[in-house]
Amino acid sequence: MESTITSQRDHQPDWPVESEVSRARAELSRATPLVPASDIRRLTARLAQPAFLLHAGDCAETFRDNTRPSVANRVSLLRDMSAAVELQSGHSVVTVGRIAGQYAKPRSAPTERHAGLTLPSYLGDAVNEVEFSDEKRTPDPRNLVRAYEESRKTLSYLERSGVFTSHEALLLDYERPQTRRSAIDGRLYDQSAHLLWIGERTRSVPGPHIAFAAEIANPIAVKIGPSATPADLVALHVVLNPDNIPGRLAFIFRMGYERAYDLVYAMLSRVVAEGWVDRVVCDPMHGNTVASPAGVKTRVVHEIEAELRAFFGACSDLGVTPGGVHLELSGDDVSECVTTQISDTYLSRNYRTACDPRLNPIQASYLAQVAGELLAAHRDISSQTVLAMSNR
Ligand code: PEP
Ligand code: CO
Repeated sequence: MESTITSQRDHQPDWPVESEVSRARAELSRATPLVPASDIRRLTARLAQPAFLLHAGDCAETFRDNTRPSVANRVSLLRDMSAAVELQSGHSVVTVGRIAGQYAKPRSAPTERHAGLTLPSYLGDAVNEVEFSDEKRTPDPRNLVRAYEESRKTLSYLERSGVFTSHEALLLDYERPQTRRSAIDGRLYDQSAHLLWIGERTRSVPGPHIAFAAEIANPIAVKIGPSATPADLVALHVVLNPDNIPGRLAFIFRMGYERAYDLVYAMLSRVVAEGWVDRVVCDPMHGNTVASPAGVKTRVVHEIEAELRAFFGACSDLGVTPGGVHLELSGDDVSECVTTQISDTYLSRNYRTACDPRLNPIQASYLAQVAGELLAAHRDISSQTVLAMSNR
């Protein structure tokens, strides 16, 4: 991976000095692994079981908010949500945080313009800083090493919490050096997190992100948006899970609530027809981002709920097990998503996200409750189907 990287090519930053990024990669390749391969294998084993996945956390973690109380708030919210889904549905839940490494963001545009000044977009704390100045927005490869150190700190706060970690595998300069061969099974593990996902903008086959994901033995998730076709799903399955191993691959659908039922139905039909064991998960947030009258990014909880219901509906109609939910949330009382009405007054109360609008604890708990109820209803439908079939 020594090629010169230009802006936006495969969403890799335009690092100004190549020797500095080489140094950062060398430092990461010598660093102590963040997570043991045995824990990665443990997550694969959990995901191979028919447990429900709660996959949630920040859109973009920040170094500034990487404090013990902030991490504790997020983790206790995740645990409460998992407990609520378990209680409602009677299914066990595997909890995976977008945490301890979610420091890189793909952006729709490589630059941003404010008051006559054009600067590189914010690409996550592993690359540059949110503050809109030439100095802060210039990608600095030392942030890769800092992201590792901050992740290590988060992991120390997470000890004994029972939460697995994940982030978007976007920056290959961060992921590749942390990929090591296990002496136990001879396979490669990206030891920067338990689960890695590939985002909607970098899931092309062939492309460097999918090629990287194919090489590693971690559980992999791939975001699937409205532009994807069932043929894209086939290409991803063939590259990422050719042996159809349970626990290896998850598709995370993020379609937008209006078209979610039809689009998810078409995708799931293919999953069923091909006989794949891949997990299917609903991200009801990334297809439902809108702008307020003042131009602030927000999401409407009712629309998020509508996509969640559409996903469960498509699963029920096809007899597919709903595999999980993927959410962006904060453990703090932020005002970034609205319940029904978009109000700039409400949004301005405590809008703090470094990237996408997150659910606050009340909104997130509500959606966990809805997911639990839908899962319980799905189980009733499935057991009726089994009963009806066995009575035939
Ligand atoms: C995200 O999960 O923050 C994200 C950028 O999602 P997507 O790739 O689905 O757009
Ligand atoms: Co996001």
